[in-house]
Amino acid sequence: MIDLRSDTVTRPTAGMRRAMADAEVGDDVFGEDPTVRELEEETAALLGKEAALYVPSGHMSNQIAVYVATRSGEEVWAHRRSHVVANEQGGTSVLARVLPRTFDSATGVPDADLLEEWARGTDDVHRARPSLVCLENTFTGRVVPPEEQDRVAAFARGRGMGLHLDGARLWNAAVALGEAPARIAEAADTVSVCFSKGLGAPVGSALAGPAEAIDAARRARKLLGGGMRQAGIIAAGALYALRNHVDRLAEDHERARRLAERIAQTPPLAAEAHTNMVLVTTPAGRARDYADLLAREGVGCVPLGEDLLRLVVHLDVSDADIGTAADRIAKAAAAA
Ligand SMILES: Cc1ncc(COP(=O)(O)O)c(C=O)c1O
Repeated sequence: MIDLRSDTVTRPTAGMRRAMADAEVGDDVFGEDPTVRELEEETAALLGKEAALYVPSGHMSNQIAVYVATRSGEEVWAHRRSHVVANEQGGTSVLARVLPRTFDSATGVPDADLLEEWARGTDDVHRARPSLVCLENTFTGRVVPPEEQDRVAAFARGRGMGLHLDGARLWNAAVALGEAPARIAEAADTVSVCFSKGLGAPVGSALAGPAEAIDAARRARKLLGGGMRQAGIIAAGALYALRNHVDRLAEDHERARRLAERIAQTPPLAAEAHTNMVLVTTPAGRARDYADLLAREGVGCVPLGEDLLRLVVHLDVSDADIGTAADRIAKAAAAA
């Protein structure tokens, strides 16, 4: 099976396993795990933020970010397909008890007119108070230009709102643009990054931001039962990933581009690559059929809608796998 369902399916490399086995550890709930501290400090520095907090998952990181940036009953604006509102079990309404207001756009960013429209009349006593905008970068593999994030941040600040960035794949955006990770995170008050996706670590994400917000986030992590003890074992995998697996994301992007090029020559399928993701358009309503056919041929993928498939290139996918996957997809398409 060439598993292209997600970049979360990777297994730790030999070097990463060694780093984990050798990790110095302590009780992180007492703030005594040196490896966790090192990871948090290095992550904060890379993202240009005062502090960072290691958390078990990107889901928890996003939820904590919303929880510490809002008060119950306030409004949070996010794309209707963003992970924080669409794929976290409605957690923002359960935990922070806020009202998600969702926009749609191809780019993942709300347009200026919509922001102006939503900001009108917010002093009205009938309205919930908007307090946070959430963006995602990359958004379904698409790089959101930092200037677009700057525009939303300027708007948000002008109205006393905060900006949280779900940067689960921020590293891919930085590598694709040739920018420092800090530039991608610059517009955001808080930013969540994942070590367990393209970077290939087995566990964990970090929430970075102002020291005061991260102190509050540390308390919220404990509230959610996310305080970990000798977490240096897994933090060492994340640290290894951060130091060794960021630049190599360019290889995943190049392989995704080549895979999309091959699939695009396979009618009736159309394909485009965005960073490490290949989005394949199937004939109308047939995404699930094609996902099943591909699985039978030994290629794992995920249907994103009625006629869209997602294939994700990652650390465990070689050049040879790209050729084999393309051949198998062509065979499946011929049989469809
Ligand atoms: C954009 C985005 N944000 C957040 C998450 C959540 O990460 P985790 O699986 O670590 O909870 C994911 C997971 O795939 C994601 O794609």
